[in-house]
Amino acid sequence: MAGRIPQPFINDLLARVDILDVIESRLTLRKSGAHRYLALCPFHDEKTPSFNVNTDRQFYYCFGCGATGTALKFLMQYDQLDFVPAVEALAAIAGVEVPREKSDRLRAEASDRLYSVLAAADAYYRKMLKQHADAARAIDYLKGRGVNGLTARDFGIGFAPPGWDNLVRALAQAQTADLTDAGLVTSRDSGGVYDRFRDRIMFPIRDLRGRVIAFGGRVLGDDKPKYLNSPETAVFHKGHELYGLFEARRTVRSLARLLLVEGYMDVVALAQAGIGYAVATLGTASGTPHFEKLFRYAPAVICCFDGDPAGREAAWKALSAALPALGSGRQLSFVFLPDGEDPDTLIRKEGKAAFEARLDGAVSAVEYLFTRLSEGLDRRTLDGRARLAELAMPYLQKLPTGVLKDLMLRRLSELTELTAEMLVRQLATAGPAAPAPLAARRRGPIESKISRLSEYLLTSLIQHPELVKELSAERRDDLLALDDCLLARLVRHLVDNPDADTAALLGYWTGETEHGTLLGLAERRLMLAGEALAREFADAVDQELAARAKANRAAALEDLRSDGSVEKLKSYWRLKRQETESSNG
Ligand code: CTP
Ligand code: MN
Repeated sequence: MAGRIPQPFINDLLARVDILDVIESRLTLRKSGAHRYLALCPFHDEKTPSFNVNTDRQFYYCFGCGATGTALKFLMQYDQLDFVPAVEALAAIAGVEVPREKSDRLRAEASDRLYSVLAAADAYYRKMLKQHADAARAIDYLKGRGVNGLTARDFGIGFAPPGWDNLVRALAQAQTADLTDAGLVTSRDSGGVYDRFRDRIMFPIRDLRGRVIAFGGRVLGDDKPKYLNSPETAVFHKGHELYGLFEARRTVRSLARLLLVEGYMDVVALAQAGIGYAVATLGTASGTPHFEKLFRYAPAVICCFDGDPAGREAAWKALSAALPALGSGRQLSFVFLPDGEDPDTLIRKEGKAAFEARLDGAVSAVEYLFTRLSEGLDRRTLDGRARLAELAMPYLQKLPTGVLKDLMLRRLSELTELTAEMLVRQLATAGPAAPAPLAARRRGPIESKISRLSEYLLTSLIQHPELVKELSAERRDDLLALDDCLLARLVRHLVDNPDADTAALLGYWTGETEHGTLLGLAERRLMLAGEALAREFADAVDQELAARAKANRAAALEDLRSDGSVEKLKSYWRLKRQETESSNG
């Protein structure tokens, strides 16, 4: 199968082909202005022409039916072509070949090569745990931590011997590039490669089919770093993988529950003690994709965290990340361990039954959420109860509609003594404290999606992309630093592609949700031009930056109210300071 057509090629194509050449051969056009042509619209029935072609900005639009687009879109609409054939037709007009990105088949072949070197490395590390002269040290270490031979075998635990080129030599037949791409070796500045993992206990990370996709390596003593993990590769994406999930599913196919813990050794020690349903993230915080995956394989997930402040912080973040994944029939709960213990130490101290009793007493996500939000509030006062409702709204909004959401609303209604109807109404109107990025919102009229100011900025930029070059470097950097939004993306694109014109921009956004918005803005009338426009644009940028700084500060204050940690306090004051500075300067 052929691969994707590279976007820069499409931009280039739109810049080369004149839209007039494309449309003229299909419609009867009449010149109606310096850069304007008129025709009867081919996309709806009409007697007087309202179909315009703008040759200056290289796009068409119809006042009657709203059809609009670039030369590419016209070919798709008029000739009823799919995207790829339309690009090919356009390329034929320009007399150029359509290049393709690496095909899916080539990509799959490259991944297969990675899986095969990873499997070879896995076999090698396991063999070394049995045979290497230094293996006794590794085995003693594992025994010292209570891991027996059977558990080590189940998890495929291995040993990377000390030295710089054991693996490189053992896998001499493999292509060096594959070893590098699989994250098994590191390149030297002087050329050549050396083993990434040296003198470490090796934990293979397997995907759900049992293929090794990466490794975590632990030192045998107290050296730093304690754990070394494979880097992100074509087959390993940390943010999605869970250590131990393959092993858990191999033992029990339909799992009643999964236990999310923090470390490799926790997973292994729990399995050794008979709790075979524990999994761990790979040294990253647990994110929404992790929870999506967990709930795909079990209806209940218990998160196990340390009882110390760091553990509580991690649990709170996990809850927030899990909310979007909490559809109906999915249960999430939390267990906090005594200070100074992790599952590995605790299970060895108290055994399976006592540990599982803790799990049975886990706090449900609903209770945990409200307990945490109620901290520092006096629920006996009306004010405290109203505040709780207010604080809970953003969390409830993250939940998909369903039983759990209803349950949460009912519980909130009990706690706040506000009627469920009132809460639902509040839920419908409560927006996030800061303006949400455009992409995150629903489709609707432009006005309701973006502030007037950002709309003006977008309009100016889409029509006069060169305005970006006239901004001071500082203003430009401030715009680039904005949270992800159409404005920031547009500026970023223009910084990367300084020569893009309106048609190229519209071409680039073809097929994206924002395409329609940008087309609409491209057609607006701007009152000013030249220097006056540049001055007004710079002013508007300043206003927009100030407005956003203010909104961010308001959001930070909101955040601070719900969670008065030192970190939050610091970030609030940083924003506050920036705002004062920018309004003074
Ligand atoms: N981790 C990591 N890199 C480090 C330290 C930790 O990637 N330098 C990740 C590992 O996935 C590790 C997890 O974070 O399993 C938890 O770390 P920690 O609690 O420090 O380690 P334990 O799992 O308790 O390890 P051990 O019991 O072996 O000391
Ligand atoms: Mn530990």
